[in-house]
Amino acid sequence: MERTEQPEQPEQPSQSEQPERADRPAADGSGRPRGVTRRALLGTAGAGLVVGASAGAAGAVALDRSPASGPAAGPGGGLGAARVPFHGEHQAGILEPQQARVQLAAFDLADGAGREGLRSLLRRWSRTAARLAAGEPADEFENQVALDAGPCSLTVTFGFGATLFDKAGLADRRPVALEPLPSFPADALDPARGDGDLFVQIGADDALVAVHALRVLQRQAAGTAALRWQGAGFARTPGATAHPMTGRNLMGQIDGTNNPRPGEEGFADKVFCTAGGDRPAWLAGGSYLVFRRIRMLLDNWEALPTDRQERVIGRRKSDGSPLSAPAGAGESTPVDLAAQGPDGALAVPADAHVRVAAPAANGGAAMLRRGFSYHDGLLPDGAPDAGLLFLAFQADPRRGFTPVQRKLSRGDGLSRFLRHEASGLYAVPPGAPEGGYVGQPLLEG
Ligand code: HEM
Repeated sequence: MERTEQPEQPEQPSQSEQPERADRPAADGSGRPRGVTRRALLGTAGAGLVVGASAGAAGAVALDRSPASGPAAGPGGGLGAARVPFHGEHQAGILEPQQARVQLAAFDLADGAGREGLRSLLRRWSRTAARLAAGEPADEFENQVALDAGPCSLTVTFGFGATLFDKAGLADRRPVALEPLPSFPADALDPARGDGDLFVQIGADDALVAVHALRVLQRQAAGTAALRWQGAGFARTPGATAHPMTGRNLMGQIDGTNNPRPGEEGFADKVFCTAGGDRPAWLAGGSYLVFRRIRMLLDNWEALPTDRQERVIGRRKSDGSPLSAPAGAGESTPVDLAAQGPDGALAVPADAHVRVAAPAANGGAAMLRRGFSYHDGLLPDGAPDAGLLFLAFQADPRRGFTPVQRKLSRGDGLSRFLRHEASGLYAVPPGAPEGGYVGQPLLEG
């Protein structure tokens, strides 16, 4: 039986927010899209929309992809023309809001590929990712699948699994923090659908654009690295709602409210790596990515009345407002973990997900969550094979995901409705400069 932990004595209610994004409401309640900032960008004739991926954590990240903000949708403008530069201080696909579609994949290095094979592959992959993100065709293995579309905010993000380092003769350069994640109670992990030497996250606002990029990268890898697993996910399509909103997951909850936010104090320390001590210089400016394929037991969840569902999370389904505030207060209202109802009971229950996951309950542990939903049909027993492709970027998983998941796996009311079925931990190198490739400081530094 699961044990419900006693609630921590709340310190400061942790109320950070997620990166500013154009398809979220403004915090000022004005209803205007928030976050079209100096980093976001700019419709220029011919060039379409561009969002800087690398202005550093100090800049907010936003890309106004709503139809109202730009020219008509399609490759000439709007969603299709929006592009995110591949090159920059950090890899693209971390700070930007989730695109409508994602392809996740991991590859294993072929025997004998070694360091040279890896270097050559990363060069080709980086060159191709930069071309596709700029709206150009691939210069090899182009298959015309996405010929009519613009880049659709395509981002390609590469990561290195712990197993890569031995195979590439780089064992002495493997970061200590890349040690395997511990196993957690109730984990039901399938290694064939997780881990892997090389990880790729491909996001785009169009499914064909994302699949095209994956297919080209896969063909370029032939002989050097073989696909180990692949998964497809989705998030809200920009413009789908009447006004900008935080997205919902397949449990119907507004998900992503209380994320660290670029621009807030300490954001970079939570998300990006620095050098020094056991932190290697080649990873400075990079991050660690935890991937979990988390199936939702939707039949059980949907049998629960809404008010009980809300107590499992600690927020209302209608508007994401915390249960410590009146209905309608809005998702940006700070959570008051100490608040009590008229009966003296905690307003946010002791085992509510937001209480157990909060940095205040986990020694400040924080991460930037950037997950996508998945729905892959039905399991043999008729249950939906659906849930969350959980993706969280952090400066050190030992101070981010691991302590939080340890706590969640024992004391989170939500865990009764979840199954963690696959897992991966990857070092995400810093972004590459123009002319360089991702991983160059590791391979040539
Ligand atoms: C399918 C699985 C999950 C679902 C459906 C889910 C859903 C949610 C929802 C609805 C919220 C409240 C809104 C928000 O702040 O984003 C939330 C918050 C949060 N979740 Fe999850 N979550 C899941 C798994 C996880 C996992 C595995 C972790 C980390 C180990 C995690 C960490 C957090 C954190 C840190 C917060 C913010 C807490 C706060 O400071 O208020 N979640 N989650």
